[in-house]
Amino acid sequence: METRGYQFSYEVYADKHALSAEDQALIDASAIACEQAYAPYSSFKVGAAIRTLDKDIVAGSNQENGAFPIGQCAERVALYLMVHTLGRKAIDTIAIVVDNKDQLTPASPCGSCRQILNEYRSYQETPIRLLLTLERGGEVYEIHDVRDLLPFAFDGSFLGF
Ligand code: THU
Repeated sequence: METRGYQFSYEVYADKHALSAEDQALIDASAIACEQAYAPYSSFKVGAAIRTLDKDIVAGSNQENGAFPIGQCAERVALYLMVHTLGRKAIDTIAIVVDNKDQLTPASPCGSCRQILNEYRSYQETPIRLLLTLERGGEVYEIHDVRDLLPFAFDGSFLGF
């Protein structure tokens, strides 16, 4: 018998001002996108802004629906918008911002988004970094690679890709 392990660590910054100017700009882009969220059912507004490796920025927000399961998360809206406006570019960082007064800590991507982010990660050699924070400010969590959020993932390699 052997025990196999997994270690996960992430950075916590006191606020966005501890980050580089380009990371702050990405968080700001995410906050602007968050204002376009359509979240009448959850009142949980999310913005996601992607910076590609070649420095383009594209952003999206969550779009809910009265038929709940067909609503879309901000991350997926931003990813699909990137593909259809810029092409399938390598991603450097995604800033994810939540605007909800009851939310005390930054929120992290849901399980479905983790799976989809992991798929995008498999197209590229480099990590996809995440910055998670609240729209009203406060701590920023830096996740070094989306892969860290989905250990033991199922991916195309199981299907021979
Ligand atoms: N949501 C996102 O857009 N991204 C996440 O990472 C977590 C959850 C949205 C989905 C739904 O519109 C609302 O937040 C509440 O779950």
